[in-house]
Amino acid sequence: MLKRFCYRQIFSDLLCPRGQILSKRKPFKLQLQKRNVLALSSRSYASSCPGEKSDRCIEKPMKWPSGRPAKFKFHEETEAILNAQINAELKAFYYYLSMAAYFGRADVALPGCESFFMQMHHEEHEHALRFVNYVKMRGGCVNLCNVEHPADQDWKCPLNAFKTALELEIEVSEKLVAVNTVAEKHGDLNASDFIVTGFMEDQMKSVNEMGRFVAVLSGIGDQALARFIFDKDLLENHVLSKFNVLRTKSNSNGRDA
Ligand SMILES: [Fe+2]
Repeated sequence: MLKRFCYRQIFSDLLCPRGQILSKRKPFKLQLQKRNVLALSSRSYASSCPGEKSDRCIEKPMKWPSGRPAKFKFHEETEAILNAQINAELKAFYYYLSMAAYFGRADVALPGCESFFMQMHHEEHEHALRFVNYVKMRGGCVNLCNVEHPADQDWKCPLNAFKTALELEIEVSEKLVAVNTVAEKHGDLNASDFIVTGFMEDQMKSVNEMGRFVAVLSGIGDQALARFIFDKDLLENHVLSKFNVLRTKSNSNGRDA
């Protein structure tokens, strides 16, 4: 009976109040020294409680996360700039959402612009997710931070919105170039290929497309008919069917598209 009590005491004393476990070396010692068991276990308890400096308790009850990321030549500078790129993509994602919401207003009513910017919004979301998945694939950590919102969300006219969109696309392109520069600096061929092959061409096309829209809109001025034709062309020729808000609204009302 006394023996059973002693063992129970050992195991209860081996645990700290927060569930921390003593190092493996000490329990073996304790089992071997049965006569001095209570005195020894009480000393172990006193010296391994939280707040006291002791090497007898491990830092965490479980080794999870392991703290040993499976990184293969994934430099922390590359990881940081890829995280910054996630933020840049999310900034564009946020701006395009603001533009889509503005052109969808009842008193603005430009479905082409609304659909186009909603499509861009989804595209930027997809880009951000691709960066998130890439950082994870390389064994890095994703660190999200605040996303910048447009200071002025009254976009006024399509020209103003498309000028901002062009600036955004140029900004994102410059950041992609910076990511590639850092990846090359650290000899990270995979990260470099991910940027160049996966993004750069589409990014250049986006800059070109936005530049063209700005050029067309600059010639339109404030002409209502020309603005209407531009919006209609945008909807018919530059928006995928699933982002066409007129079609979506029609379907949601139970009518055929
Ligand atoms: Fe993007």
